[in-house]
Amino acid sequence: MSNHKTINLVVFGIGNVGSTLIQQIHTAKKQLQQQNITIKIPVVTNSKLAFYNEDGLTHTWDCDFQKFSVPYKVNEIISFVKAQQFQNLIAIDATASTDFVKNYVSLVENGFHIVSANKVANTLHYDFYNTLRNTLKKHNKSFLYETNVGAGLPIIETIKNLYGSGEQITKIKGVFSGSLSYIFNVFSERNKSFSKVLQEASKLGLTEPDARQDLSGNDVARKVLILARELNLKAEFQQVSIESLVPKQLNGKTTLHQFKTRIKELDVPFQNRLASLSNDAVLRYVGELDVVNQTLEVKLVSEKKQSAIGQLRGADSIFEIFTESYGENPLVIQGAGAGKAVTARGLLSDVIKLSNQLN
Ligand SMILES: NC(=O)c1ccc[n+]([C@@H]2O[C@H](COP(=O)([O-])OP(=O)(O)OC[C@H]3O[C@@H](n4cnc5c(N)ncnc54)[C@H](OP(=O)(O)O)[C@@H]3O)[C@@H](O)[C@H]2O)c1
Repeated sequence: MSNHKTINLVVFGIGNVGSTLIQQIHTAKKQLQQQNITIKIPVVTNSKLAFYNEDGLTHTWDCDFQKFSVPYKVNEIISFVKAQQFQNLIAIDATASTDFVKNYVSLVENGFHIVSANKVANTLHYDFYNTLRNTLKKHNKSFLYETNVGAGLPIIETIKNLYGSGEQITKIKGVFSGSLSYIFNVFSERNKSFSKVLQEASKLGLTEPDARQDLSGNDVARKVLILARELNLKAEFQQVSIESLVPKQLNGKTTLHQFKTRIKELDVPFQNRLASLSNDAVLRYVGELDVVNQTLEVKLVSEKKQSAIGQLRGADSIFEIFTESYGENPLVIQGAGAGKAVTARGLLSDVIKLSNQLN
């Protein structure tokens, strides 16, 4: 078993995605052994507490965390893994934190690869984006973030492969948000008010607790920006033109409670929008990166029912990648673009990809 590898993960963030990842790693143990990989998790943290176990977590990790976790600083975790002389270190970022991202450079300088579900590092100012990549190069470390766009769907990898092989990508367009996919897929059936659909989406756990975060379009805009940067466009978040779906009178200055009680104010404008379409058309909230004209947009558009985007169902995401070789008919990737199980699986798949490059 000379080519057997032990990978040491430090999991930052044990919410929906982080805890599902730990569960999936336990369940996949045998499968991983067959690939000569052992994944050990010597440290897990939330925003304030860390649980250390140099032998790696067991299936009682959740209880152990409740009982034995202690306040921590990232530097202390770095000292701990150094003292233990752990090899093949990967930091998992399963937070949504801007603060945590500030640790990336120091983690890389101290021997960590990074696998992240958190979009922040790829959407901050371009200087940070560049500094991180230069640091990674200098220390020969990897940063994988397939789950930043489309959760478990292979979007980043596909685009990287196309771009890296010299294929001219001209446009990427699609529905990049599970919650907004559901909302407009159902609303476009024309038998429910917008507020009713929004409430249903919230009940199904598809929206953020404050649905205005989804309706603002910022999350879709971040994904468009990440895709643009994959194609080497030095774009900034401010360059994304965003059509927010939050009415001005219900913006962030209004409390969440006020927003919820006045939610019917959204009905007339969206109903009018739908009524203005022909019968064979539906509304879709799309992200669009026009590479030729270098425009980044997030907007509500009308699509023919029969088009790939028009046929979308449930909370699925769809990505249409237009390139020179694919011509008029884009390469299409479609499926669940959100959810803890597919996102955690996407993180694990990044970990395995990285492990295959390690000694
Ligand atoms: N859920 C999905 O479908 C999905 C899909 C694609 C990508 N993602 C991304 O995956 C990430 C995690 O999502 P989630 O749904 O699992 O979120 P979540 O349930 O809110 O969990 C977030 C976790 O991060 C921890 N955390 C927050 N700030 C931290 C910090 N500074 N340092 C260390 N830990 C910190 C939180 O700890 P506390 O409890 O102490 O605050 C919590 O354990 C997000 O970036 C999200 O955008 C999620």
